[in-house]
Amino acid sequence: MKIAVMPGDGIGTEVVAQALKVLRIVAPHAETQEAPIGEAGIQAHGVPLPAPTLELARKADAILFGSVGVADEADIPRERRPGTGLLQLREALTLYANFRPAYMFPELIGASTLRPEVVDGLDLVIVRELNGDAYFGQPRGFETNQAGERVGFNTMRYSESEVERVARAAFECARRRSRKVCSVDKANVLEASQLWREVVTRVGPDYPDVELSHLFVDAAAMMLMRRPKQFDVIVTGNLFGDILSDAAAMLTGSIGMLPSASLGYNRKGLYEPVHGSAPDIAGKDIANPLAAILSLAMMLRESFEMEDAARRVEQAVRAVLAAGYRTADIHQEGMRSVGTRDMGDAVVEALRKQAA
Ligand code: IPM
Ligand code: MG
Repeated sequence: MKIAVMPGDGIGTEVVAQALKVLRIVAPHAETQEAPIGEAGIQAHGVPLPAPTLELARKADAILFGSVGVADEADIPRERRPGTGLLQLREALTLYANFRPAYMFPELIGASTLRPEVVDGLDLVIVRELNGDAYFGQPRGFETNQAGERVGFNTMRYSESEVERVARAAFECARRRSRKVCSVDKANVLEASQLWREVVTRVGPDYPDVELSHLFVDAAAMMLMRRPKQFDVIVTGNLFGDILSDAAAMLTGSIGMLPSASLGYNRKGLYEPVHGSAPDIAGKDIANPLAAILSLAMMLRESFEMEDAARRVEQAVRAVLAAGYRTADIHQEGMRSVGTRDMGDAVVEALRKQAA
């Protein structure tokens, strides 16, 4: 088990430290090696994805990732922005399918901004395409129009093979769940989306046991708020997936609870909390480490086929929530307020108790 550890920036370092404590308990033999990425990469080597970091990622079986980003990125050129390091890593390793489960822990129902009956039992996965779309499409850039104004432009593009591989990932995922896939696009307006829908529709019959439906992204955003429990697996492009996954995260009470896995053609994956680096709360020991810890559980399951260990970690998280431990983002009246480290320790303690 060779794990590349990339804490990154901001609260990334704090939450990854807690996930590592958990790893030591459930997989003491795992080899870990750390490397800088994002702003940390810039500080160490002048670029957001330093060559030694990419090299380590290539050699590793899995990557445990924190988050990247600094407070004010507006004036930093794109190639030196912390997030660029993560995008380059996703592309370099062809991690094209990003799984973002939104699961309602019964203990946190009161923490959601939606009414309990709307979110009780919520259990969906967004499969976000990760290597294409306006994120990577060429041409992109700035130019000057005839009126002398600056114009910024990007290209939304998808090839058939890019859509097909992520569609298959979504159908396979649905087979392990409730066998429903909802493909989300904007085919009424965009060619890239029209092709997306055609390809998903063509692939669908290969999975006759999975029910396929389609929604336009605006309607999908609305349905996520109105009746989120209708969804099982949502498959969508990079840009729509970025937006919908933050929205879905909030259904569960806090983005601080949401893990993710990015996978490609083999079992090597990158595991990261869906939340960002949150510079405003960094270094204060108040961030929620559970998304990072649950990301570790996904790693154990997907990259190392350690289903039992993954379950143990998830059960330990349940146990600390049931015992009333809450970080600030999921704080509820009458519960035990804890910081990042104490929450990590509580999970470790819960794991030890399981063994006993
Ligand atoms: C995410 C983040 C990234 C993205 C940023 C940090 C580049 O928002 O993983 O959702 O847009 O993909
Ligand atoms: Mg995002």
